[in-house]
Amino acid sequence: MPDSYLNGRVTTVIGDLTAQQTDAIVNAANWTLLGGGGVDGAIHDAGGPQILAECQEIRRVQYPQGLPTGQVVITAGGNLPARFVIHTVGPIYGRHQGRDAEFLADCYRNSLALAVNHGCQTIAFPAISTGAYSYPAREAAKVVAETLTAFLADDTTLVEVRLVFFLLRDAKTFSKHQNFPIL
Ligand code: AR6
Repeated sequence: MPDSYLNGRVTTVIGDLTAQQTDAIVNAANWTLLGGGGVDGAIHDAGGPQILAECQEIRRVQYPQGLPTGQVVITAGGNLPARFVIHTVGPIYGRHQGRDAEFLADCYRNSLALAVNHGCQTIAFPAISTGAYSYPAREAAKVVAETLTAFLADDTTLVEVRLVFFLLRDAKTFSKHQNFPIL
């Protein structure tokens, strides 16, 4: 089931995001940046208190009203194998006046740009918004494929963008509905 696209620059794996040995991993956070369930909870549990402390400082200094949907911030990885965690807020499906896809694309594009700014060559993503935020996985697959394809066409830094699925079923849905170009 693990697949690759765009000459191997995008890969898919089934597993735990927190175990990925990439330069950065992306957190599907919420506006509070103070933790939650799902992948967010797993990252804070595995990464330890440094991540939350940095998030609290970011809230105090930069985002007292919370992180807007589609935007990104970066912290250290704490006890995780990844050097950085990039926190983003996915759209809550159906709550954005038809702009869900735009916001989901922002999450991926802004995360990639921030990773590149921090010198990352490898980054791992969870399937943002497809859990608690109810974004249909088949629709998300197309948004992700189109956004990564466009970003990587202009980028020469990123060596691997890894899409990490928790469940085999989710990886299969992605594989079936993605629309990466065949090179
Ligand atoms: N590794 C990889 N994928 C995971 C892991 C893991 N350890 N754990 C869950 N997933 P969700 P959202 C998958 O709900 O939809 C949180 O409470 C999961 O199977 O984590 O963006 C935040 O604080 C699903 O496919 O994120 C927010 O309040 C995907 O990760 C809210 O949930 C995303 O599911 C964000 O909701």
